Amino acid sequence: MAEHQSNSSPTAGRQVLPTNVKPLHYYLTLEPLFDRFKFNGDETIDVKVQEDSDYITLHTLEIDILDSTLTTGSGDIIKPIGITADLDDQTTTFKFSETLKKDDIVNLHIKFIGDLNDKMAGFYRSTYEENGEVKYLATTQMEPTDCRRAFPSFDEPNLKAKFSISLIGDKKFTFLSNMDVKEESPVGSSRKKVTFNTTPLMSTYLVAFIVGDLAYVESKYKFNNVPVRVYTTPGYESKGQYAAELAARALEYYEQSFGIKYPLPKMDMVGIHDFSAGAMENWGLITYRMVDLLYDEEKSTLDTRLRVSEVVAHELAHQWFGNYCTLDFWDSLWLNESFATYMSWKCCNHFYPDWKVWENFVGESLQYALTLDGLRSSHPIEVPVKRADEINQIFDAISYEKGSSILRMLANWLGEDVFITGVSNYLKKHSYSNAKTAALWESLSEVSGKDVQSTMKIWTEKVGYPLVSVNEAGSKVTLEQHRFLTTGDVKPADDKTVYPIFVGLKTDDGLNESLVFDKRTFEIPVDENKFFKVNGDSNGVYRVNYEPERWQKLGKVASKLSVEDRVGLVADAGALSVAGFSKTTNLLSLVSGWKSESSVFVWDEILSRLAAIKSAWLFEDETVKEAIKALTRDLVADKANKLGWSFGKEESFLDQKLKGLLFGSALNAGDKTVISAAKKMFTDYVAGDKAAIHPNLRASIFNNIASKGGEKEFKDLVSIYENPQSMDEKIAALRSLGRFEDPVILKRVLSLLLDGTVRSQDIYIPLQGMRSHKVGVELLFKWMCEKWETLYHMLPPGLAMLGSVVQLCTSGFTKEEQYEKVEEFFKGKDTKGFNQGLAQALETIQSKSGWVTRDSKDVEDWLEKNGYLHKHD
Ligand code: BES
Ligand code: ZN
Repeated sequence: MAEHQSNSSPTAGRQVLPTNVKPLHYYLTLEPLFDRFKFNGDETIDVKVQEDSDYITLHTLEIDILDSTLTTGSGDIIKPIGITADLDDQTTTFKFSETLKKDDIVNLHIKFIGDLNDKMAGFYRSTYEENGEVKYLATTQMEPTDCRRAFPSFDEPNLKAKFSISLIGDKKFTFLSNMDVKEESPVGSSRKKVTFNTTPLMSTYLVAFIVGDLAYVESKYKFNNVPVRVYTTPGYESKGQYAAELAARALEYYEQSFGIKYPLPKMDMVGIHDFSAGAMENWGLITYRMVDLLYDEEKSTLDTRLRVSEVVAHELAHQWFGNYCTLDFWDSLWLNESFATYMSWKCCNHFYPDWKVWENFVGESLQYALTLDGLRSSHPIEVPVKRADEINQIFDAISYEKGSSILRMLANWLGEDVFITGVSNYLKKHSYSNAKTAALWESLSEVSGKDVQSTMKIWTEKVGYPLVSVNEAGSKVTLEQHRFLTTGDVKPADDKTVYPIFVGLKTDDGLNESLVFDKRTFEIPVDENKFFKVNGDSNGVYRVNYEPERWQKLGKVASKLSVEDRVGLVADAGALSVAGFSKTTNLLSLVSGWKSESSVFVWDEILSRLAAIKSAWLFEDETVKEAIKALTRDLVADKANKLGWSFGKEESFLDQKLKGLLFGSALNAGDKTVISAAKKMFTDYVAGDKAAIHPNLRASIFNNIASKGGEKEFKDLVSIYENPQSMDEKIAALRSLGRFEDPVILKRVLSLLLDGTVRSQDIYIPLQGMRSHKVGVELLFKWMCEKWETLYHMLPPGLAMLGSVVQLCTSGFTKEEQYEKVEEFFKGKDTKGFNQGLAQALETIQSKSGWVTRDSKDVEDWLEKNGYLHKHD
């Protein structure tokens, strides 16, 4: 019954509800039945009739309707004459014998029963053990389209309504929902009913409710009169204090930045043992994966602190971006996710300036975006999505990282303050309502006086980004732009877009940010005999190629370049070599001259570009891989040994990070001193000295021990996984299990993934470890093929996890014949729900294969000439 429009507009074919009615208010009562894994539901929806019609269609999925009645505009109570379900559209239609009259308000009353499922979608159950006893907690995950599993609903973001929610359950449990409690009353002797206050107008994907045994901590920092709490199952709550404090401060920060009050009476954040994403921004009731919420000052790593801060800041930003003002439909997902991402960096930078998060942005977010968007199988930021299985797939680096990168670029162009003012106007204008991208551009144009719309729309509507080539002919320096593709084979059909490019010209006189170039070619005002660099501070979303001599010159003036510049140069040199626009040896020469580099972010980029060579060369001759290891050792070992591996409390965040990074890569690259130190720490640790391994070294040590390990190390790491000191230690142990290179052990690891030992939310973690080595990569694919049916069943394609499993199990390959094997396996299979991830994995294999074929001789010669390669006779 859903409407399928047939023109070629972006909304054509969109699976949406008919518009004859719209919801106003849901009165909802739910009761989880833990003994049957079902839940009872009872709801009345006030519905406004928009045109004369005799039916109501709303979304349902895996819900049994037990009874339904309609109170008509004139107060008659009638039964539907027909109830039909459409499984493909995920809808149920109630048909009536009377016409519902335009402008009437009718009340649809439905009693139903649903599955309290274990798929982490809709109203689901999470399982955990406490003192040897298995326990359950009922919680929700609605975004993007699973509210329809929890209750019959008009499950589209722009069908906002008010919600009055009640929950029934065991009286000893805690009940939570978006709003605070209105009243509580006993039900029989052992149960209670809790009714929550009515929500403001909001979208269905933000509705949340939880029933379970929960304990909490509350933030000591007072934010207005709004209590900010972190809830977990008992025993974990004290580790939520850090997140609670940051959340209270972040709420205040956002409230002040936007000039818009946080409108709800409370903020609860809950750690859930089974959770598909990292966290979910439900209004007033944010849910989290445990690792992304809990932080232990003594036992957690710096990276955990960073991640928890980022996630908390991100979900709180959504309380404005997304919850208060919501995307109109899912093709504008970026409005939610890019903003929350951008704001989370801004927020972390505000509270922790010494973390230098914007320096980190270039190597992390921007590169992540450029890598994915360098594939033909990428998609524009704004992409028509029509069906539920397509919507799930766009929660990716394009919506998050490319989107936030273009916002950073835009904020830089307009000035951050102007940008935030425009954004705040936009939020206010569409409060408790929905908006499209054009509305944002309008507000920003208004405050800035610049034509934001025509500049930015190319960036959001077109796929990809340009490669800017800097051509030097005599004293004339010209820029030329063409599409960048990682496979290097840009055809005219790929290269139709001319992007507006912020040149960002850096010279000895400073950074000139006024040049915007929106033609194929552009002459820049520079003296070719002096220092210059394009894309100053890597503010723009593009890559730059120079002539070989200019690359060499830039390599020698590191002191004139910011950290952002240096990270960007290394990244571009790396990506250009993958695609064949420059030689891999250009990258090798550049980084081998930067031994004295001091920034952890530049080191991180250098090391990941070297790691990318190693993984593309995975199935090549061992001597070359050994030589790359020797080069890495040469770069990092002395520095790692000099910095050492003990951490003082007074040491800066960045110094600690650098120490951890260099230790890990020296260990990986086979430095003997570091290896023996790591071994000793691990032995002492296993013998009971829990302080022997500093948290910041833990992941590298576990990985290294596993990669060389056998039976004993396997047992040791499994036992750490089972009895961890902290959540992040548990995950580090789990990831390391994929590093074993002994196929017999790896098979045991894989069986842990399917026998219930490892939660399905965590399956991808050991797979990540396996994808880093040859035996692992081969076994992963074999395993995926053999277990396909099981995996497909366990991780239904409507949820996003199957896609990441497919990617992890295939994208480690590097050769043409392996590409064909993957293609062959999926031929004739239904790839709905992960087709995009699969296409991206295939293209990644293709680009590696092309890269190795093109550059292997060149790389080998360079390594030999520089004394790293020792040929076996
Ligand atoms: N809205 C998302 C959660 C989500 C993701 C729901 C995918 C449905 C499908 C949430 O705000 C989010 O983006 N979470 C991120 C964390 C963030 C710090 C990038 C996540 O889950 O990783
Ligand atoms: Zn988000």
